[in-house]
Amino acid sequence: MSKSIKLAVLGLGTVGTGVLNLLNDNLAELKRRSGHDITITHVGTRRHRDDIDPNICQESDLMAIVRNPNIDIVIEVIGGQTVAKEVILEAIKNGKHVVTANKALLAEHGNEIFALAEQYHVHVAYEAAVAGGIPIIKVMREALAANKIDWLAGIINGTGNFIMTEMRDKGRTFEDVLTEAQALGYAEADPTFDVAGIDAAHKLALLASIAFGIPLQFDKVYCEGITDITLQDVTYAQELGYRIKHLGIAARRYHDGQQKEYGIELRVHPTLIPEDKLLANVNGVKNAVLVNAHPLGATLYYGDGAGAGATASAVMADVMDLIRVLTVENHGHHVPHLAFIPEALSDTPVLPADQMQTGYYLRLQAKDNLGVLADVTRILSDFGINIDAILQKPAHKQGEVPVIILTLPVIESKMNDAIKKIEALDAITAKVVRIRLDELAS
Ligand code: HSE
Repeated sequence: MSKSIKLAVLGLGTVGTGVLNLLNDNLAELKRRSGHDITITHVGTRRHRDDIDPNICQESDLMAIVRNPNIDIVIEVIGGQTVAKEVILEAIKNGKHVVTANKALLAEHGNEIFALAEQYHVHVAYEAAVAGGIPIIKVMREALAANKIDWLAGIINGTGNFIMTEMRDKGRTFEDVLTEAQALGYAEADPTFDVAGIDAAHKLALLASIAFGIPLQFDKVYCEGITDITLQDVTYAQELGYRIKHLGIAARRYHDGQQKEYGIELRVHPTLIPEDKLLANVNGVKNAVLVNAHPLGATLYYGDGAGAGATASAVMADVMDLIRVLTVENHGHHVPHLAFIPEALSDTPVLPADQMQTGYYLRLQAKDNLGVLADVTRILSDFGINIDAILQKPAHKQGEVPVIILTLPVIESKMNDAIKKIEALDAITAKVVRIRLDELAS
């Protein structure tokens, strides 16, 4: 029997407006797919908007909306972690299902929010929180449910990828591209979250939990942004057959021959990847997530990672799922929030940053002295660090040369020690620039 499903949209920024537009454009299709009437009855907004359908009630008291017994699903697209958290908790206590795009809130408070949702037998859906319009949460929680996921690597911040692509391809300045990303509705309210890697770290924390069945641990994600990447490094990397991409990487680590991992790496940083890999060719606002699972192998998910339409698409897909939950007999049934049942979450530790294993791109500024390269390579070999490639450019300043070294994977603490020794050499005139490198073998 056809029902009438009532939605409230809290927040009318880029995403909230996108949801209203989507419903306006695709309502007939959504009804055909769900078999039910879908209506936005309330929007939560501080300022009255004249361009909104007069049948929709505009309300500034968000608590009144989430307590309204007539509303079935609350869509939280306010962002931030204070008001958004309060209204989501109150919506849950009022027995409402929630859809949110708020990765910062879930990455930092998701354990508490999901526990409350379990207690009240409601669902908090968050497809829009990770990788914009790409249905990666659904894929990992449902389509890959038969697999053991070993690692994943993703370009999961559209703004950062857009900035790096425009700088590389068109020589535009960082500030100029960031301003455009803000105008296009890609960037966070505070764009530092995008360029410092925090937004990607939020998303990685969510992806890692549903990949490995661990509680959310945003505070343990190693995080570096894109602000220190220079055109010079982009060019050298290209000469060696690599592209620099800002990646989020989550990987189980095993001791040789063992089945059970001893730890998990969670890291977000610029990474050199071979230019012939698909991920190296994900440009502009596009996101992509490469998932390596057993027995499936590698699969790649690609699409728009930010923007009103992409995010609204993910929000409404969650709404459609929840309509099914609301309109079948078994109301309480849903996919576990973190993909694994709460009692089965694992306590495998997230490894400290100095235990990460990765290859490196090193750029040294050296005096053009006899034997300097021999000193550097000896230090690397003393620490068991295997060199994969060396590029030495002719002296570009009087008597000084840039030297580029690519290494095979090594434990980060060894690289830290080696870099300290290299920087202490008389012939090394500047701090060593290091960018991590991953061959993305799969
Ligand atoms: N600021 C985010 C990005 C929005 O650029 O990816 C989508 O989460």
